[in-house]
Amino acid sequence: MGTEAKIFLVGAGPGDPDLLTLKALRLIQTADILVYDRLVSPEILSLVPNSVPRLFVGKATGRHTLSQLEINVLLVDLARSNQRVVRLKGGDPFVFGRGGEEALALAKQRIAFEVVPGITAAQACAAYAGIPLTHRGLAQGVHFITGHCKDNETLVIDPATLADPDQTLVIYMGLANLSQIVSDLTSSGRAMDTPVAIVERGTTPRQRNIFTTIAQLNDAASAHAIESPALLIIGKVVSLAAELDWFMPVMQEMEARYA
Ligand SMILES: C[S@@+](CC[C@H](N)C(=O)[O-])C[C@H]1O[C@@H](n2cnc3c(N)ncnc32)[C@H](O)[C@@H]1O
Repeated sequence: MGTEAKIFLVGAGPGDPDLLTLKALRLIQTADILVYDRLVSPEILSLVPNSVPRLFVGKATGRHTLSQLEINVLLVDLARSNQRVVRLKGGDPFVFGRGGEEALALAKQRIAFEVVPGITAAQACAAYAGIPLTHRGLAQGVHFITGHCKDNETLVIDPATLADPDQTLVIYMGLANLSQIVSDLTSSGRAMDTPVAIVERGTTPRQRNIFTTIAQLNDAASAHAIESPALLIIGKVVSLAAELDWFMPVMQEMEARYA
C-alpha cells in the first residue's frame, strides 16, 4: 500500500449534478477507482473520466449485488492496492447511507479515510418542492426517519415523534411500509388533515410532487403509482409549496422551449 492511500466516502447528492460539492467533483475526477451505488445519477457518472475504473455495488433488479459486509471487505481490499478510492453514495454518506458502517470497517483495519458530505434527499427534495423544512409559526424542528428496517425486523417509529404538530417529518424509504406508516401516524393522534408531499425522483427532470393529506396518503400513492426513490414530507410547512414551488415552472418552461 502506498503511503498516501486513502478512501473517500463521498456524497453525490440527490441527482442533479449541479448539487455536487466542488470537493466531490474533484475527487471523482482524480480517483484511481470509483465504487458507486444505484442512487448515483447517470448525469453524475458522466462526469467521471473514462480512464477511472468503476465498480457498481448497488441494488439491481431487487437484489443486492454485494452484501454490506462484502462491500466493506471490498473497500478494505481496494484501499490496500490503490492510492485514491472514491466510494460514491447517493445523498449524504452518513444519512441512511451506511457510510458509518463502512467508515467503521475502515477504521478497524486502520485504513485512512475522509468523509465528504452530500446534500441529503430531505434537504434537496424539500427545496425543489418549495417546502421550507422549518418555518417560524409552522415547524420548530424536523425529524429524518427511516421507513425501512433491516431484514426481518419490524418497523417501530416513536409515536410521540409522529404526533407533534409543530415538527416536520421526513420519511426516507417509506413506500414499502406506507400502510403501516399511515396507521402509526393515525394512532399517534396526528391530525388526519395534516398536509403531506410525496416527492419522487427529486431534483431530476423527472421529479413529481404529489400533494395530499395523511388521510389520503395510501390512495394518493397508489393512484399516482409512485416509484422509488421517493420521500415523504409531512407537516404544516407542506402547505407553503402552493406559493413557493419554483422548480416545476422552471421544468415546464424548459420542456416547452425544447418541445
Ligand atoms: C438508502 S436511502 C439513501 C439516502 C441518502 N444517503 C441521502 O442522504 O439522501 C434511499 C432513500 O432516500 C430517498 N431518496 C434519495 N434520493 C432521492 C430523490 N432524488 N428523490 C426522492 N427521494 C430520494 C428515498 O426515500 C430513497 O428510498
